[in-house]
Amino acid sequence: MKYDVLIIGAGIAGLYAAMNIPKEKKVLVVCKDIPWECNTFYAQGGMVTALNEADIPLHIEDTMAAGAQHNNKEAVEILSRTSLYTTADIIEKGMEFDKDDEGNILYTKEAAHSVERIVHAGGDATGRYMHYFMMVQNMHQLQKNTLVYDLLIEDGHCYGVKATVNYEPTTIYADDVIIASGGVGSLYAYNTNSRTVSADIHGICVEKGIELADMEFMQFHPTVFVDTPYARKLLLTEALRGEGAHIVDDEGKRFLFDYDDRGELASRDIVSRGIFDYKRKTGKQAYLDFSMFEEKWFVERFPNITRTFASIGYNFPKDRAPISPAFHYANGGIKCDTSGCIPGIENLYVIGEAARTGVHGANRLASNSLLEGVVFAKRAVEHLLAKEKKAVKTPTFEKDYGNILHKENDKIYKQKLRQIMWEDIGIIRTTKSLHEAKNLIYDMKNKEIGRLLELRLNTASAIVDAALARTKSLGSHYIEPSA
Ligand code: SIN
Repeated sequence: MKYDVLIIGAGIAGLYAAMNIPKEKKVLVVCKDIPWECNTFYAQGGMVTALNEADIPLHIEDTMAAGAQHNNKEAVEILSRTSLYTTADIIEKGMEFDKDDEGNILYTKEAAHSVERIVHAGGDATGRYMHYFMMVQNMHQLQKNTLVYDLLIEDGHCYGVKATVNYEPTTIYADDVIIASGGVGSLYAYNTNSRTVSADIHGICVEKGIELADMEFMQFHPTVFVDTPYARKLLLTEALRGEGAHIVDDEGKRFLFDYDDRGELASRDIVSRGIFDYKRKTGKQAYLDFSMFEEKWFVERFPNITRTFASIGYNFPKDRAPISPAFHYANGGIKCDTSGCIPGIENLYVIGEAARTGVHGANRLASNSLLEGVVFAKRAVEHLLAKEKKAVKTPTFEKDYGNILHKENDKIYKQKLRQIMWEDIGIIRTTKSLHEAKNLIYDMKNKEIGRLLELRLNTASAIVDAALARTKSLGSHYIEPSA
């Protein structure tokens, strides 16, 4: 199989990249499972857009403040400025964001935004609506059930991938490869991510010496319902707090003001740590309280949350929901420039959550992720289409891991890894816990394990090493002094 462009991942970044490549090009989009098993599908709150020229400096300021000024300012400026184009483009192509009775787009606010600048769809189903829209818009071939287990790289040039396609080991060649495979969610015991997001490609990059950056900055979402049997937990969108929901303890106390003057609307890292610390210190439960909302309005504004929680016995907005922080988003990732180019490897791009452009710094501002997906997909495609084509002879890649993807005890180790990541490399870290985690990960690497677990462990090692290297707390990386 030989393509002009191979896109790994069918979330918002992968699909918007495909939408921007002309029909005449031979493009293949691949996804590991069914296309809607991706983080985009589960995104609730919305997509940030700069409201106009005048809002750009403020959006940049909010993004940099949430990111603890660790952001790449150039990338943030690009994100904000380009949003004017990409949002208009998506709307012009037919995407329907929620509107008021007069047909004006409704904007909402989430934590750490100075103004209401987040567009949403289906009330609280923005990701699902955008994903469906882009699936329909994409005119290129999409192959589901395709699990990439190797990148074909030789002498600084990427020639394609090895993958199982419907469980058959297959080599897919391409002139250009775009990684849009998402973050690392499945490494954590509690996470809000799709089960397909398991850091395989990050792990391949570690193996090939491709740099990952900012991996210590793992983001935890503060308001997640974790009392479910699956690793993916139920998100309660930040837009709920943006609209006025409160975080309270058993007695109804809004305890977050003990941690930050902005209370529930402080940035995500501060709210997550506040909840975690308060629960640990007091032994009390934390809840998201919606009792201030009028029922009709709530059900229309948050229809999916209302329905999902009704199915497990909650009557919103009357009932409050017990909450915990859970892993949500990787601020770091595969290091690239602002066109998605990976230093030292020709013909290989990375976009979306998998990428580390530096746009999020040490902590992502709420709802900047769907925007990141579209903005940097557009830029990577522009770069790819504009560059001069060089004729290259494709080497043969003999080595194949297709028949050793899994080994007998992988499931046990995978669960153990999830627990280590959650307990030792989670919201609050200590140097001691990080060293322990590093040793346990190293031990697992030396067991009889399959290729896919090995890749997860490579990524886990990169996270723990980055966390150990940063000895002072910053943004979502919080180191507590050891007792
Ligand atoms: C949410 O709806 O709270 C998630 C939005 C995001 O991760 O930016």
